[in-house]
Amino acid sequence: MSNKVIWYGHATLGLETDGHKIVIDPFFNGNPATSISPEAVEADFILVSHGHFDHVGDAVAIAKRTDALVISNAEISGWFQKQGVKSHPQHLGGGYKHPFGYLKLTHALHGSGLPDGSNGGNPGGFLLTTNDSKKVYMAQDTGLFGDMKLIGEEGVDLAFLPIGDNFTMGPDDALRAVKMIQPKTVVPIHYNTFDVIEQDSHAWAARVEKETSVKVVVLNPGDSLDF
Ligand code: NI
Ligand code: MN
Repeated sequence: MSNKVIWYGHATLGLETDGHKIVIDPFFNGNPATSISPEAVEADFILVSHGHFDHVGDAVAIAKRTDALVISNAEISGWFQKQGVKSHPQHLGGGYKHPFGYLKLTHALHGSGLPDGSNGGNPGGFLLTTNDSKKVYMAQDTGLFGDMKLIGEEGVDLAFLPIGDNFTMGPDDALRAVKMIQPKTVVPIHYNTFDVIEQDSHAWAARVEKETSVKVVVLNPGDSLDF
């Protein structure tokens, strides 16, 4: 079985696993980091971590065109259903066996208001166990929290952590997060999209690799990684 993930810039990821296409936080229109149009995106499933515009993004349009199932917290799932989009509600700490693997919603320290002002519940991240037992933690937007250690105890193969600062963890706290989670590989996300979250990801990678035994993969928007 092969697993592949593409970073589209910001917190937008495309995952291909066991023949399923999953898009996470599909922010294409208005995302300065990507030139890919949402009309070109194929998806069987769409994961939405929280209600902010740069994460809900083009999810409604992509879901309506592709008939993808949206997976998010109960409040956001209800918001999608009201717009005629199929959704599967979960909530923080709960996992479910989907065709592409076992997906658990994790805690995130952030906000979750939806673009139209609706209540988006609490923000989350994702811990996916693929059908071939690889563990992928997609923290999405969050500040540092001590329970990242509990996520690490599950044995994380690949982690996506924000390093942009201002809205999420910055480089210092993301380094502390790596030390708690101890993934085999970490990929920095949610930086350089906007001026206020500009960061030197290569300098961060050098610090992580000096202070830990974790491998850092710095992707450029559009790059993919097999795992
Ligand atoms: Ni956000
Ligand atoms: Mn964000």
